[in-house]
Amino acid sequence: PIVTVLLCFGAYLAGSVLFAVPVCRAWQLPDPRALGSGNPGATNVYRAGGWKPALITLALDAFKGWLPVWLAHLAGLSILVQAMVALCAVTGHMIPLFYRFKGGKGVATALGAGLALAPVTTLIMAGIWLVIMWRWRISALASLIAIASGPVISALLEPDTLPLFGLLTLLIVVRHRNNLIRLAQGRETGL
Ligand code: G3P
Repeated sequence: PIVTVLLCFGAYLAGSVLFAVPVCRAWQLPDPRALGSGNPGATNVYRAGGWKPALITLALDAFKGWLPVWLAHLAGLSILVQAMVALCAVTGHMIPLFYRFKGGKGVATALGAGLALAPVTTLIMAGIWLVIMWRWRISALASLIAIASGPVISALLEPDTLPLFGLLTLLIVVRHRNNLIRLAQGRETGL
């Protein structure tokens, strides 16, 4: 139990590091919270500075989701507890301690946590993301369709992780509510 508490808290703290901000600073780019969609995530870093810093942001935000779940796995904790740790990391990214609780949308962090806990489901979701992105070039649309497919794919292939994907879908869709409104109005800008 103490290990569980430590890992949950550690995951929340790791999630609270919004890598978009230091990566943009290191690249001498404007703060991602002050341009484009204002979201501190890889998509908006792309708008600020192109592929390289965007991919590094994606990798680091994914890593902070992956690491605590992998540690929970190494500690021999149950799938349910590992899912809790994953949700703590994603919550940290969405409501970060270090940025006045104003965070991002959680897609990259969920990708990392998902890879640690349900790699098959997560890789298929990443494939869906890439196909939608390739066809429409709207990151929010790709994220929403990929995350919405999570519960269905996990139920079929990795049913132990269905509760995780159910909650991730809920959290990530709520965080995309403004993107959803813009998509419905045909005003979403994409990349
Ligand atoms: O993961 C974030 C992406 O789905 C949308 O980002 O900046 O277009 O609102 P953004």
